[in-house]
Amino acid sequence: MKRLGILISGRGSNFEAIADSIAAGELEASIAVVVGNRPEARGLETARQRGFNAVCIPSKGLDREVYDRMLLAELRQHGVELVCLAGFMRLLSATFIREYPNRILNIHPSLLPAFPGLDAQRQALEHGVKITGCTVHFVDEYLDAGPIIIQTPVPVMDGDTVETLSARILREEHRIYSEAIRIVLGGDYRIEGRRVVLG
Ligand code: GRF
Repeated sequence: MKRLGILISGRGSNFEAIADSIAAGELEASIAVVVGNRPEARGLETARQRGFNAVCIPSKGLDREVYDRMLLAELRQHGVELVCLAGFMRLLSATFIREYPNRILNIHPSLLPAFPGLDAQRQALEHGVKITGCTVHFVDEYLDAGPIIIQTPVPVMDGDTVETLSARILREEHRIYSEAIRIVLGGDYRIEGRRVVLG
């Protein structure tokens, strides 16, 4: 059973969706540890309540390399084999990424490369797109930039607010994150340049 390390900064609903897929027998993996970089991250509390190892390593004021070394030590200690960023609001250093080559995933609430960075749902509304969505991709040193594993479109409705649009996208995020993890753990794919070719 592959050991996942889930990194969060806030609510942790994607972490919960992954935990639910595992509990339902839809994803063969185990969550070795949930790490949060903010003490107030609600997902850490949820993780503890659900009986997972939940660790807070506060990042405030720490140099990226220093922080990433602490993070790596924690993940290694728990034997983590695949790192899943789930609302983790920090860029990872090259040092970190080298330790987990093509073994770090991220979820982003837009159809990348559109609307990278913060407030992707607001960016989509302000741009006036009719379709947005979500993306699970491998992580490299750049923001929301690595090879794409899965994307799903989500329509933007007239009258949408950031909240209603975010909720519609989030339902899809919860579905595709487990699906992407299943693909990566199954190993039935290859990376050709920027393309992730399945099967
Ligand atoms: C999600 O929309 C995710 O795509 C983005 O941050 C949000 C995190 O939500 N990167 P949660 O903490 O998983 O509930």
